[in-house]
Amino acid sequence: MSATEPRRIVIFDTTLRDGEQSPGCSMNLDEKLEVAQALVDLGVDVIEAGFPIASPGDFESVREIARTVRGSTICGLARCNEKDVDRAWEALQDAPDARIHVFLATSAIHREFKLRMDMDEIIRRAVESVKRAKGYCDNIEFSPEDAARTEPDFLCRVVEAAIAAGATTVNIPDTVGYATPTHFGGVIKNLVNRVPNIDQAVISVHCHNDLGLAVANSLSAVEQGAGQIECTINGIGERAGNCSLEEVVMAMRTRNDYYHATTRINTPRLVPTSRLLTNITGMQVQRNKAIVGRNAFAHEAGIHQDGMLKEPTTYEIMRPEDVGFTKTDLVLGKHSGRAALADRAKALGYHLTAEQLQEVFDEFKRLADKKKEVYDADIAALIEKRMNVAEDVWTLSGYDVHATGGGTPTVSVTLDRGGEKISRTNTGGDGPLDALFRTIEEITDTSVVVRDFRVHSVTRGKDAQGESTIEIEHQGRVYRGRGVSTDTVEAATLAFLNAVNRVAAGAGQPLEARPHDAV
Ligand code: KIV
Ligand code: ZN
Repeated sequence: MSATEPRRIVIFDTTLRDGEQSPGCSMNLDEKLEVAQALVDLGVDVIEAGFPIASPGDFESVREIARTVRGSTICGLARCNEKDVDRAWEALQDAPDARIHVFLATSAIHREFKLRMDMDEIIRRAVESVKRAKGYCDNIEFSPEDAARTEPDFLCRVVEAAIAAGATTVNIPDTVGYATPTHFGGVIKNLVNRVPNIDQAVISVHCHNDLGLAVANSLSAVEQGAGQIECTINGIGERAGNCSLEEVVMAMRTRNDYYHATTRINTPRLVPTSRLLTNITGMQVQRNKAIVGRNAFAHEAGIHQDGMLKEPTTYEIMRPEDVGFTKTDLVLGKHSGRAALADRAKALGYHLTAEQLQEVFDEFKRLADKKKEVYDADIAALIEKRMNVAEDVWTLSGYDVHATGGGTPTVSVTLDRGGEKISRTNTGGDGPLDALFRTIEEITDTSVVVRDFRVHSVTRGKDAQGESTIEIEHQGRVYRGRGVSTDTVEAATLAFLNAVNRVAAGAGQPLEARPHDAV
């Protein structure tokens, strides 16, 4: 590479691992496959698909992604022990391009209180695990967890030993989001200057956002020689999340004059991928979120609008189309055909089978009868609604609500299970939704606690579809549900029933934390 050519930064996406393990972001197998395919379309280099030993569900999804998703390296996480490494490989072995990622905490706090291991033991474990992983595949990443708080001398020793054992990427995590940009850049600079074999591995960074500095810290590391950034779509992840992929990528692209760094990311896919993840998880991004938020390119102030009309670059450092915002998202109406719908679905990042397309098309026609203007967000909502129908044991046949302000509601619900109709009428409850939820609990014999419940409009306008997302707890597991309808009461009822169907399908996440910590 010539001195003037920009450096290529590897984008390692951990939406399906660090992102997925955060509350409210769990995904089922089909959803993970959809996101993995969208990440390939986005141009992500490495997809961390999960933590195979964490649960049978995690194992299954890493294995399916490894078997079916092509175009990116597929990575699986493992702690530094034989069982974890073996299980990771078992899940990854069918991927044409696989990476095993092993990690072990190195900071004094973690060594003393969590691991109860001394420095030599840490190095021994790290080396053994990297070597074991190397026996399975060439592409090995090692992470000294909590590296940002690890003594610099010890961090150099661990990194050198891991590279000597065969690690091809050494990832430096700021696990608790404690670092600040100059400090974190210094951590990387120290490794570049003091680890004798550092040129034999790519330096990666993995920054958490507890102080809102994950992107800034990652960029500072790039300036000091980091060649890989670990990040997630919409910045989801443990606690305050991870470095946001869209922000860090657009920072390097927009300020290429300063960073001289490029990525393989197809930036017009950023907004569709962000929306796909939002639709799947129900985890909304704030309106003013950089790059992908609804207001990211909205100029309200008169003085800004005036400048924009005269010359867009007065107030705009990126063009909306560069990140995937379309000029108008009003796309389809009642006379639009199947091909137009297929085209929009593809542009939104969905890969539909012919059968799924037909189902979505039928729903689209019904919606277009009720609603004059059908927006991208409406289409995404219809598609998401169809994606999970295979799980449904119960379907809503009908409901009836009688409620007055402050009075006791009376509701009737009829559910269908395999052709059999079951109805109940109840009076009571704290408002009509509470009464509807309780009646569904009774019919399905499923007792739950509602942990989170939201309703918002998918698009603008009085005839907008309402989308409801709900999180319920049942016997120590958490289940998500969503429902969409032009009637918000129906949307909420469908969301609740969707979550109850997931209970019936056993598609929940355990309440307790995953084995992120011990060895
Ligand atoms: O934050 C962290 O340290 C991690 C490691 C597993 C890389 O997620
Ligand atoms: Zn992390």
